[in-house]
Amino acid sequence: MLDVREIHSFYGDAHVLHGVSLSVAKGEVRALLGRNGMGKTTLIRSIMNLTPPQVRAGDITFKGESLRGRPSNEIARRGIAIVPQGRRLFPSLTVTEHLTVLKPASVTTGWTVAKAFELFPRLAERRDHYGNQLSGGERQMLAAARALMIDPELILMDEPSEGLAPVMVQHLESIILELKAAGLSILLVEQNLFSALAVADQVTVLEGGRVVYEADAQSVAHDPGRLNRHLGVC
Ligand SMILES: Nc1ncnc2c1ncn2[C@@H]1O[C@H](COP(=O)(O)OP(=O)(O)OP(=O)(O)O)[C@@H](O)[C@H]1O
Ligand SMILES: [Mg+2]
Repeated sequence: MLDVREIHSFYGDAHVLHGVSLSVAKGEVRALLGRNGMGKTTLIRSIMNLTPPQVRAGDITFKGESLRGRPSNEIARRGIAIVPQGRRLFPSLTVTEHLTVLKPASVTTGWTVAKAFELFPRLAERRDHYGNQLSGGERQMLAAARALMIDPELILMDEPSEGLAPVMVQHLESIILELKAAGLSILLVEQNLFSALAVADQVTVLEGGRVVYEADAQSVAHDPGRLNRHLGVC
């Protein structure tokens, strides 16, 4: 469904992604792992053509068509949503307003505000709270709910578990599995290997802007040693 082929991304003259390739198949969750500064967010932004960075070589295709150089809003319309790192929300919009600006309450097809509230009951309880009145976990849920409002086929999630308490991380894992069960494909940036293995089918590790490891989650679970060495956790 998504194919990234040999992309090279730059911030000015700084060459950050060095020929990165990966794919996400329909209905699959691919975890993208790597330590701080290894290029994970750069890859997510490159896929959405959010600049900077600039992609100077390689290609990105979605359902067989090239995305490279297309405006980000067109990429979103083609079915790719992003949950950005840091859960950017509007302090002066309520929970409901965050969702209805993307999909009016009168639209009843696909993901509706009501369906999003079913998936995230906590958000329903906080529907009239402003963005700046939400806890970290609630902000993360709202960022994910907002991504659903464009009825994506693929969601790019950039460290959704960052800063969440363990119980919230588990809740997020179950939500990711529900989205997968609903047929969505997900590229999930994650620093925690165990959280990634709880939901992922495939695992890719970036180091210094290069893919240094790629495997299916089952084989990682049988031999985590090699992967751990790349992540520097043992
Ligand atoms: N706007 C920018 N301008 C210049 N350099 C940048 C910019 N954003 C990131 N970089 C550099 O690009 C490299 C990759 O950064 P990136 O944000 O992709 O890392 P990451 O893997 O997402 O890290 P983290 O886990 O901390 O979010 C780093 O060396 C970073 O300093
Ligand atoms: Mg990042």
